[in-house]
Amino acid sequence: MAKKLNPDWKIPEHVAIIMDGNGRWAKKRLMPRNYGHIQGAKTVEEICEVAYNMGIQYLTVYAFSTENWKRAEDEVAGIMRLLRRYLEEALQDMEKNRVCFRFFGDLSKLSPDLQKLCRDAERRSEDYDVQVNFCLNYGGRDEIVRAARAFAMDVAEGKYKSEDLTEELLSKYLYSADVPDPELIIRPSGEMRTSNFLLWQSAYSEYVFMN
Ligand code: FPP
Repeated sequence: MAKKLNPDWKIPEHVAIIMDGNGRWAKKRLMPRNYGHIQGAKTVEEICEVAYNMGIQYLTVYAFSTENWKRAEDEVAGIMRLLRRYLEEALQDMEKNRVCFRFFGDLSKLSPDLQKLCRDAERRSEDYDVQVNFCLNYGGRDEIVRAARAFAMDVAEGKYKSEDLTEELLSKYLYSADVPDPELIIRPSGEMRTSNFLLWQSAYSEYVFMN
């Protein structure tokens, strides 16, 4: 059951989380890294529920970066398996949970079945209000480069002139086009870096680094 919240609390509209420390968490317990990711995925579910109950409108989760492909093959395969299972379950419970799914990142590198699960989840949940954005094969620089390229294409096609470009217009070419910037970004694990996460959107965000 949802706890009653203190009415004086100012609840952010958008919270973003850098998932980190799964490997170290598992190592401390003498378990394989993938066990850490399994627990990490469970934690994401718990966070989604708490965020929903707190009235947070947007939650963005950095689940797999453009750099994460460099990890050991079996670790990447394990993370992809987890994502598949997570999305299959999310699709089954879609009408019950009523959460809108969005994916930020270049999904074309994911396996075709995973891409389909992402697209199905987006399509079937598009009318729901509370939104969870999963960053998959996501990089902040890559996102800005793609946006710049898409704008350049529109200029080439005569839709815009180069001088039409403003911060507001560039924002519309990002994965986060219609999502407000996060007020709060949380990174567990003790690392105090942004690691290419929401570079554009985090210009005014507050960071909380946790151990
Ligand atoms: C960072 O911890 C975590 C990842 C690179 C992968 C996280 C992805 C999942 C748990 C997959 C499932 C996700 C969802 C949303 C269902 P790390 O391995 O960098 O930890 P370390 O820094 O301690 O090594």
